[in-house]
Amino acid sequence: MSFQITSLILFVSFLFGVTRSAPPCLDDQKDLLLALKNHLTFDSSLSTKLVGWIQSVECCAWGGVACDEAGYVTRLDLSHETIHGRIPSSRNDWEGLNRLEYLSMAYNSLTGELPKSLLTLPSLDDLDLSYNRLSGQLIDVVQPPRLRNLDLSNNRFEGPIPGFIFKLAALSTLKLSANKFSGRVELDKFGKLTDLYALDLSYNDLTVSVSANFSLLSKLNSIMLASCNMKEVPDLKNQSRLLMLDLSDNHLSGEIPNWIWEVGNGYLRFLNLSHNKFSGLQEPYTFPFLLDVLDLHSNRLEGDIPVPPRRVYILDYSNNNFKSSIPVDFGNVLRSTLFFSVSNNKLVGGIPESIRNATSLRALNLSRNALTGPIPPLIGNLKDLRSLDLSVNLLSGSIPEELTNLTQLSLLNLSYNHLSGRIPKFQTSTELSFEGNEGLCGPPLKKSCG
Ligand SMILES: *[C@@H]1O[C@H](CO)[C@@H](O)[C@H](O)[C@H]1NC(C)=O
Ligand SMILES: *[C@@H]1O[C@H](CO)[C@@H](O)[C@H](O)[C@H]1NC(C)=O
Ligand SMILES: *[C@@H]1O[C@H](CO)[C@@H](O)[C@H](O)[C@H]1NC(C)=O
Ligand SMILES: *[C@@H]1O[C@H](CO)[C@@H](O)[C@H](O)[C@H]1NC(C)=O
Ligand SMILES: *[C@@H]1O[C@H](CO)[C@@H](O)[C@H](O)[C@H]1NC(C)=O
Ligand SMILES: *[C@@H]1O[C@H](CO)[C@@H](O)[C@H](O)[C@H]1NC(C)=O
Ligand SMILES: *[C@@H]1O[C@H](CO)[C@@H](O)[C@H](O)[C@H]1NC(C)=O
Repeated sequence: MSFQITSLILFVSFLFGVTRSAPPCLDDQKDLLLALKNHLTFDSSLSTKLVGWIQSVECCAWGGVACDEAGYVTRLDLSHETIHGRIPSSRNDWEGLNRLEYLSMAYNSLTGELPKSLLTLPSLDDLDLSYNRLSGQLIDVVQPPRLRNLDLSNNRFEGPIPGFIFKLAALSTLKLSANKFSGRVELDKFGKLTDLYALDLSYNDLTVSVSANFSLLSKLNSIMLASCNMKEVPDLKNQSRLLMLDLSDNHLSGEIPNWIWEVGNGYLRFLNLSHNKFSGLQEPYTFPFLLDVLDLHSNRLEGDIPVPPRRVYILDYSNNNFKSSIPVDFGNVLRSTLFFSVSNNKLVGGIPESIRNATSLRALNLSRNALTGPIPPLIGNLKDLRSLDLSVNLLSGSIPEELTNLTQLSLLNLSYNHLSGRIPKFQTSTELSFEGNEGLCGPPLKKSCG
């Protein structure tokens, strides 16, 4: 008996599941979508969703369409549909979609302006128009929509960031990166957006500034401000939830303040301070334990190379003025690291034997320093290594046979060192560079070993 009841419940919920996944579509919603399809230009041989929007099929079952139980369209995903030309902009095109919560037309080739009729859709939570060629200025709207997520990144929008953006009270994610927005933006203006979780203003023509008593919102998880003409490190001490911070390609100078390692209460995972004019790291500092991307390249950092946290996956110290030897146990610290570069610094001393323990490395770049001594044979242990650049150093001795064990290696650059002896036989798939070593002989060089 109880078995039968259970099966009945299962059966009913099964039926429910089916009806829920494709509720009957309301006629007017279907007509609206068909009209919308008519107003969009796309390549039907490459389309996977729009091409299947046909009268004879229930519209809630069309590709990229989802409806609520009453048959109103709530989600439209038209990303990657090769749509080109303008976004239909008449009120009739959109107005009837008054329960639409999610609209994505990302990764198409849309041109022209962002129609106001999209921004005034009453239920729209989530608008993603990233990776198109939309242009022009954004029109300010009086009644700000209740958007939670707005992604306009990777387009050609220009002009100032319109005022309504700062009034989107429910805003959680704002991505405006890689456009041509211009003018000054005071970060403080985002202070009213109490739910803001991720902010990306990178790669525009903006000048972002912060006032001295600036305090952002405690919910912010990700702040991306690359290439924002910033002259001062914004005071982010109180950002207790911060996981990702990008302040690269600005005009930041002086010491990297030591409080930066404590933002996010020690949970910081991504920090990009590359392409600035930082001269050092303020002491004392402790890197956060969870940091997995640390990019400090192209600054003017001096002194000893900092010992990174043990979980770091990507570590870029290149193009600085670090002047020290590589600490003996550095390789033990890099056990989880995939990418490490300290190219173009002033490092001296030998490559530590512990490098053999950095077995996750895919790219190791120690080029353009003043490293001396032999190449440790146990670099041959780094089985995942794709790229090894030791060029322009003072390394001596012979090329260890063990390097030929690196089956994944696609680039090996040992140019401009003091290496000598016969070159071992590498796989043909590896791009090799040995020039500028007087003492090397044998193929692929013309000089024979005699
Ligand atoms: C910050 O300072 C400015 C000018 O001194 C003042 O107008 C503003 O109210 C202050 N903001 C906060 C959050 O204290
Ligand atoms: C940071 O938080 C502390 C304590 O909540 C507060 O006293 C201080 O004014 C805040 N600083 C900033 C820059 O908001
Ligand atoms: C850091 O920022 C620079 C410049 O903005 C960029 O080229 C680089 O890819 C970023 N690094 C990482 C690890 O994302
Ligand atoms: C090593 O780093 C230098 C400087 O950043 C760069 O020019 C070079 O291409 C890198 N080598 C490899 C193999 O990527
Ligand atoms: C490599 O790691 C092992 C164990 O994890 C350790 O015993 C050894 O000393 C390390 N090698 C070097 C050269 O540091
Ligand atoms: C690595 O190379 C050396 C010398 O060529 C060889 O003797 C050794 O067996 C190789 N080790 C592995 C694990 O392939
Ligand atoms: C090897 O390094 C030298 C010096 O850094 C550079 O000129 C050359 O282009 C590099 N070769 C390859 C194949 O990357």
